[in-house]
Amino acid sequence: SSALRILEPMTMRGLTARNRLWLPPMCMYTVEAQDGVVTDWHMVHYASRAVGGFGTVIVEATAVTPEGRLSPNDLGLWSDEQVAGQRRLVEAIHAGGALAGIQIGHGGRKSGTPPWRPKVEGARTGTLEGWELLAPSAIPFPQHAVPSELDEAGIGRIVEAFAAAARRAVEAGYDVVEIHGAHGYLIHEFRSALSNQRTDSYGGSVENRQRFPLEVVRAVREAIGSQTVLDIRLSASDWAEGGVTGEETAAFSRELVEAGVDVLHISSGGNVPAAVPVGPGYQLPLAQQVKQAVAGSDVPVVGVGLIEEAAQAEQALISGQADAIAVGRAALRDPYLPLRWAADLGVRSWDEAPWPIQYWRGTWS
Ligand code: FNR
Repeated sequence: SSALRILEPMTMRGLTARNRLWLPPMCMYTVEAQDGVVTDWHMVHYASRAVGGFGTVIVEATAVTPEGRLSPNDLGLWSDEQVAGQRRLVEAIHAGGALAGIQIGHGGRKSGTPPWRPKVEGARTGTLEGWELLAPSAIPFPQHAVPSELDEAGIGRIVEAFAAAARRAVEAGYDVVEIHGAHGYLIHEFRSALSNQRTDSYGGSVENRQRFPLEVVRAVREAIGSQTVLDIRLSASDWAEGGVTGEETAAFSRELVEAGVDVLHISSGGNVPAAVPVGPGYQLPLAQQVKQAVAGSDVPVVGVGLIEEAAQAEQALISGQADAIAVGRAALRDPYLPLRWAADLGVRSWDEAPWPIQYWRGTWS
C-alpha cells in the first residue's frame, strides 16, 4: 500500500474500498426508451472510471418513481425489469476493482427539468409539459411549474418507493446505496423552510422538516439489510437567508448516523437561486463541520466540489477536512484520474497505485 492518504483503503460497514477517491453521481441523461434501463453508454462510462482507479464509483441519480425523474432520459429503479441492466453495470464496475454504488432519488419540484431545457422568464417554465411535480409545498422553483403538495399517503408511497428501489439496488449487487438528499430535490425540499411551509407534522420545526428524510433513511436501512453501505448526500447549506445551514446539517448528521447511515457525502446548494462562493474546495469547510459533529462515530465524510489537483485532495485528507474525496467534472475529462494523480504525487510502483492488472507493462521502470 501507499503512504499517500488518497490511496489508503477505506472501510465502511465491513466493505473496503481500495482507496479514498470517489466518482460522485453524475447524470448521463442517456436512457433513450424512457424505461430507465442501463444503456451501453453507462457500461462504458462507469467501467472506464473503475478501470481508471476510483475506489468507489457512484452511479448517477436514479429515480425511485417515474415522476421523480429529472428528465425522461434518467435511469430508474422503480421496476423489477430495471434490475438486470444494473446487475451487468455492477459486474463491470467490480471488474475494474471499485466498489459499486448507486444514488437513488426523487426530484420533487425540480423533476422533469433537464438542464438543456431553456429557462425563459414569463409564462414558459423550465419544466417539461405534462410532468406531475410533487413537493412538500406548492411553492415552485423559479421558472419551474407549480408542484402539488404531497398528502400523507403520497409521502408514505414515496418512502416505500425509496425502500423498494434500494432493495432492487441490493438485488443488482450494489455495495453502496446513496440517498440523494441534496441539490434541491425532494428530500432537501422537506429539510428547508424555503421550500417546506407545511403546517402538519412534516413541516414547521426543524424536527418536523427532518421527519420525511429520516423516514426514508430508516426505510432504506431496513430494506438493504446489514451488508450494504448506506450513504446519504446532503446539501449542507442553502447559501440563503432562512434556509438550511451548516450548523443545522452538522446536528442532523448525528441523527442520520443514529438512524443507520454509514457515510455522509457533503455537497451544497440547489434549493433556491443563491450566490454560492464557488472556488477550489469551496464545500470542504461544510464537510469538516459535519466530520467534527460525527467525530464520535466511525462514519466517514466524503468531500466534493472543485477538488481538481492531486495535492489539493491529499491536503484535504491530511488536514482532516474529509475522509474521502469525490471528483466529478475533472473525472469527466479524465477517466484515469486516480492513476494520474498517483503518478503526479510520485507513485511509480505497481503495488501502490490502483493499476488494473492488464496494464502491468505500464509499471516497468
Ligand atoms: C452532477 N452532479 C450531480 N450530483 C448528484 O448528486 N447527482 C447527480 O446525478 C448529479 N449529476 C451531475 C451531472 C453532471 C454532468 C455534473 C457535472 C454534475 C454534481 C456532481 O456530483 C458534483 O457534486 C459536482 O460536479 C461538483 O464536483 P466537481 O465536478 O467540482 O468535482
